[in-house]
Amino acid sequence: MLSASMNEKLNAQITREFYSSYLYRQMASCLDQMGLSVLEQFFLDQADEERMHAVKLIDYVQKAGGKLALGAIEAPPAEYESVLAICEATLAHERQVTKHIHALVAQAEEDKDYSTRSYLQWYIDEQVEEEASFADLVQLAKLAGSDLLALEDRVEKILAKRAPALGEGAQLGG
Ligand code: FEO
Repeated sequence: MLSASMNEKLNAQITREFYSSYLYRQMASCLDQMGLSVLEQFFLDQADEERMHAVKLIDYVQKAGGKLALGAIEAPPAEYESVLAICEATLAHERQVTKHIHALVAQAEEDKDYSTRSYLQWYIDEQVEEEASFADLVQLAKLAGSDLLALEDRVEKILAKRAPALGEGAQLGG
């Protein structure tokens, strides 16, 4: 049984996961506008993953006897000055998400809610992968500088390599 506070925090996290999906879909469109179709695909895939994170948590709240209450999703920024700015924004965003996941774990531990604590381990591990992926992407964007075709080429090779492992937490640089 979820505590009222845990239930509320999980609902807030679900909204945040939908926001992440919303954010990455917007970024994908910005990358499309820049003519970067490979990076666009990377962000579309990421948007789908974030939606999955939200749905997985909804499923948990319902199974744990909680009450789902979806919150409003704010509009993500729609303008970025460069690919590097997008990559850096994603890394900063994922670092914030990690803090929120850790706060959920702290609540579960305070409640002695070992079921939720156990369920959240998947999210902790996922955040390690996501921060690593986006840190790699920032590095690649920095190395590429103004050579965006080289960046597209590099990301395409990485996506091809990780394709069979998608959904298993493959890292961008792995
Ligand atoms: Fe659902 Fe990127 O964290």
